[in-house]
Amino acid sequence: MVKSLRGMNDIIDSNKFQYFLQTATNVAQNYGYSYIETPLLEETALFKRSVGESSDIVGKEMYQFIDKGGHDVCLRPEGTAGVVRAFIQNKLDKAGGKYKFFYHGPMFRYERPQKGRLREFHQFGVESFGEISVYEDMNIIMMVCDILNNLNIDFKLKINSLGDSNCMPQYRENLLEFLENHLDDICDDCVRRKDTNPIRVLDCKNNKCQTLYENAPKLLDNLCPSCDEDFKILQNLLISNNINFEVDPNLVRGLDYYSKTAFEFISSGIGAQNAIAGGGRYDRLVEFLDGKATPAVGFAIGVERLLELIELPEDERDGWYFGALDEQYISLILSLSYKKRKNQKAVVSLKPRTLKAHLKAADKENARYCAIIGENEFQDHKIWIKDLYQKSESVIDFDTI
Ligand code: HAM
Repeated sequence: MVKSLRGMNDIIDSNKFQYFLQTATNVAQNYGYSYIETPLLEETALFKRSVGESSDIVGKEMYQFIDKGGHDVCLRPEGTAGVVRAFIQNKLDKAGGKYKFFYHGPMFRYERPQKGRLREFHQFGVESFGEISVYEDMNIIMMVCDILNNLNIDFKLKINSLGDSNCMPQYRENLLEFLENHLDDICDDCVRRKDTNPIRVLDCKNNKCQTLYENAPKLLDNLCPSCDEDFKILQNLLISNNINFEVDPNLVRGLDYYSKTAFEFISSGIGAQNAIAGGGRYDRLVEFLDGKATPAVGFAIGVERLLELIELPEDERDGWYFGALDEQYISLILSLSYKKRKNQKAVVSLKPRTLKAHLKAADKENARYCAIIGENEFQDHKIWIKDLYQKSESVIDFDTI
């Protein structure tokens, strides 16, 4: 038997998935965001230049191949790069103004599959272009909080500031000097990171490295006055809006395009892969991809990780169930359900059954009304209806249904 690829799952029970999408879409629209859809396949160069060649995503995890036309392409590992490309390609950067997009869809990373870590997974993300103010970072964080709160999901928010082109280069130098002085004490991965993207050493999972980095220069001690001021404003906004958070000076994120605010939402209920959303500001990416310099900030939620945490609200009984006691009345209930379905949900049983069996099936469908036709009803031009919520019965003319 041919099976799905490792780390790629079918979504058979889609109720939670739909419930999540509707909730997140409502929140994004309430914040003034509009839907954008970009291709699943893009030129590999797009991700090399945005997510960064030194990142694990581009370095090890791309579904990359040469297409029949000889182009180097790959399945998107994340959504931001494609949206930024579309933003530039459609000349929105030149038009100026503010643009706010949300999107959802599958992303692909050739990671080692485990609980919460898939090779094909879904993200719901937003990208806001043209707002330089840290108040927009707050808006974006509030949006994630609204989505998670509406879904009744507990979370922990971690924030950090990565500095900007003023303060980051000097910090990088300071950190490099520290690493050069401790080359014998750091793991092989950190030796590699030192040469590609040094700040990524800060979230190394090796205990020995972590103990050593307690004495390394700190990002937050090296922020320039403007980054420092913005980071303070963000913290005050979070406090005044009663959003609990923790400053995590080692939060550097796995993608290279961030500057200033970076954040992650963590859940304690899903095991080791506990980041349910991540994002931050990426003010230089548009320019870096040859667009007109435009500040931007966004986030993405990992849908599969959230599905583990979502409890569906109890469904209210809704719509109709039509059944016949005899084969010859099935065409009639088919027509009646067709009429009903113009404005309501109506399922129809295509097999004659006993009344008891129909009532059981209607209950399973969570229908509000169970409508049945048998010989007596047919003779009288009537249909028998049970309201499964009020537990009342009635018989009405089937022309009036
Ligand atoms: P990210 O942190 O790489 O950020 O991914 C966002 C979320 O996607 C993660 O927090 C996690 O919930 C989920 N996720 C990532 N990898 C996997 C996986 N292998 N299996 C299951 N879930 C996964 C981004 O992708 C950025 N584009 C977010 C962003 C938007 N930043 C600015 N705008």
